[in-house]
Amino acid sequence: MKIIKCHNYQEMCLCAAGIISEEIISCPSALLGLATGSTPVGIYKELVRRFNKGELDFSRIRTVNLDEYVGISPENPQSYRFFMDNNLFNLVNIDKANTHIPDGMETDPHKACRDYDEILDREGKTDIQLLGIGRNGHIGFNEPSDSFYPRTSCVKLAKSTIEANSRFFENSGHMPEQAYTMGFYDIINAKKIILAAYGKGKAEILNRALTGPITPQVPASILQLHPNLTVCLDEQAAALTTA
Ligand code: F6R
Repeated sequence: MKIIKCHNYQEMCLCAAGIISEEIISCPSALLGLATGSTPVGIYKELVRRFNKGELDFSRIRTVNLDEYVGISPENPQSYRFFMDNNLFNLVNIDKANTHIPDGMETDPHKACRDYDEILDREGKTDIQLLGIGRNGHIGFNEPSDSFYPRTSCVKLAKSTIEANSRFFENSGHMPEQAYTMGFYDIINAKKIILAAYGKGKAEILNRALTGPITPQVPASILQLHPNLTVCLDEQAAALTTA
């Protein structure tokens, strides 16, 4: 595990975007595993800036996202499809047909999950997986539980996740309480993983995830087992990390 402690959010984003850029340049048809939420916003901004400077070409890049809310359409501004389109895909020369996100509008959870697993199986190992971390240690929307569920599943969001994310839904109705999420096998199967986090709200859980016991009660703790994990943190998120 390599931990990179940056001064602030902006520097953390430059660091993570730099690693992803290297991947895109060295492998023009790379499969990127992508995350949503507040953490990657600046990372995507930096990738778009590099694209606009002519440094990056997304024309053959493929992507798989971690998760999507259940019951939310791609046109809903709170959907993760909308987020990805507006923060990255619409701003670079990626072929949207090569971008994949679980189908939040599929009402049969079994079908939604198996369909996404099929896509993940077809696309293969991600060359690089970008992750954020929830305050309860979740990765993707794999909430603390009794087991590491390997593949895509329909999860009931934890109370703390609903509290953390409902701010985004203030003007657009009720926040969904379920999501489809990629499972641990597919996350850990990545060739490289970047875990990015900022702010003091993540400091305590990061220390537990990176130095504590590996347990599904702290889902991100499984990342300790990955042979090529880079953790990019700002000063506040890194404050309690003894790793
Ligand atoms: C979202 C995702 C989540 C977030 C986590 C942190 O696709 O996978 O695990 O990374 O909830 O969210 P932020 O970045 O908003 O603190």
